[in-house]
Amino acid sequence: MEAFNQELAVKVDKYIEHLLNPHDEVLAENLQNAQEAGLPTVNVSPNEGKLLYLLAKMAGAKRVLEIGTLGGYSTTWLARALPADGKVITLEWDQKHAEVAWKNLDRAGVADRVEVRVGRAVDVLRRMIAQGEAPFDLIFIDADKASYVEYLDLSLQLARAGTVILADNVIRNGRVLDAQPDNDAARGAKAYNESMAARPELESIILPIIRQNLDGLSISIVKLEA
Ligand code: SAH
Ligand code: DHB
Ligand code: MG
Repeated sequence: MEAFNQELAVKVDKYIEHLLNPHDEVLAENLQNAQEAGLPTVNVSPNEGKLLYLLAKMAGAKRVLEIGTLGGYSTTWLARALPADGKVITLEWDQKHAEVAWKNLDRAGVADRVEVRVGRAVDVLRRMIAQGEAPFDLIFIDADKASYVEYLDLSLQLARAGTVILADNVIRNGRVLDAQPDNDAARGAKAYNESMAARPELESIILPIIRQNLDGLSISIVKLEA
């Protein structure tokens, strides 16, 4: 038997993808369009996209909030999990990313279920809270890692008992194991994990995610009873 190593982990990820996540032309085009427009290739993997889709379905989500749109790859997975009258509100700071995403979402046939809001996520979230935005069923945090704790604080103000809160990139190839990680993203992720773990109103786990590097998706639910 092969020893556990990165190469085997990537092979297992591909095995799962080939078995359960067949090639999808719309999603492949999404990534190609994003790449041609010069966007960074930091979208979730196909298997993580499928996981987001399944979690949204399992939660029976109708209202989804995404923080960090990029080219709309994860947005497409989330939108596909919703009923016809569902809605994903996705927040993006970069106007160019938002435009690429909008075209991709339109081509994917989910534009009627998605609203892209452009601005600094913290500002947009504060405005949503002030305006009494209805609570979301599922929230996916995937923008600048340094702001993750603030995104959790604000997300909780847009949640209800039972809301599912997910955060991407919370393992950073194990850098979060360092006492003092040497980059902003790992420091932000580590702070998020500790903050999440310390909140009495959340029940949480982190699922390791295999890509070229090891990363992770945190999964929390706002407790049903206090
Ligand atoms: N969820 C996407 C990937 C998001 S990458 C996917 O998996 O397909 C992170 C995105 O967050 C980038 O597009 C970046 O421009 C955006 N971002 C970074 N800082 C932000 C901020 N302060 N407010 C809103 N979006 C931000
Ligand atoms: C990176 C990966 C991500 O999924 C993301 O949202 C941002 C950055 C990265 O690997 O740098
Ligand atoms: Mg990410």
